[in-house]
Amino acid sequence: MNKVTMFSTYEKLSKYVANIVEEQLKENRISRFILPTGSTPLGLYKELVNRELDWSAVMTYNLDVYIMNPSHSQSYQTFMKENLFDKINIYPSNCKFPDRNVQSYEQRLKGIPVDLCILGIGTNGHIAFNEPGSSFKSRTRVVDLTEQTLQDNSKYFDSVEDVPKQAITMGLRTIMESKKIELMANGVNKLNILNVAMNGEVTESVPASILQNHDNVEVFYCD
Ligand code: GLP
Repeated sequence: MNKVTMFSTYEKLSKYVANIVEEQLKENRISRFILPTGSTPLGLYKELVNRELDWSAVMTYNLDVYIMNPSHSQSYQTFMKENLFDKINIYPSNCKFPDRNVQSYEQRLKGIPVDLCILGIGTNGHIAFNEPGSSFKSRTRVVDLTEQTLQDNSKYFDSVEDVPKQAITMGLRTIMESKKIELMANGVNKLNILNVAMNGEVTESVPASILQNHDNVEVFYCD
């Protein structure tokens, strides 16, 4: 597969991306990161916690949130607190999540370009919650989740009916304005869509395919 670095284990992939984050932090302690949720970045976050880096001047921006109570056990705010923010020396006020005031989120991101954006990918090619058909010009906004995404994410809830039907996501244009992008994919169920996104046509039907137009993107995979 073109343009994709393959790893033999999930641990190796997680450590490799942690090295990239660490290098960025050491180069500039006031770095700005865009961060993902989902199962894929769990190993990365564990690795970063173990490294005891200095996060005291870092700003983070999460890619997306479900429209639900932020203190719910399955909210992305809770996920980030439990897996990263509560375990590192970052200021909670420096950890930003999209909310209904989408203009203000965009303004924050536009102020100074984000140094590093870390992404996962959905089985339908979504990045953040930009589902197939999202405009390449899209910015932070409220979106409806597709049936495929509801099904995929139902593993974190008691049933598919419990998965929130709407989310607030950064747009594809917003993501593309990052200086550097790292996409992580883990599991054979991501192999086909990764191939289509990275080697196929650049099309709004496959949101991740927009990354082919970014000049500083790396893609990592392990099965
Ligand atoms: C969710 C998130 C995405 C994430 C994707 C993959 O829908 N909104 O940002 O990349 O799922 O998740 P996982 O890593 O659990 O496969």
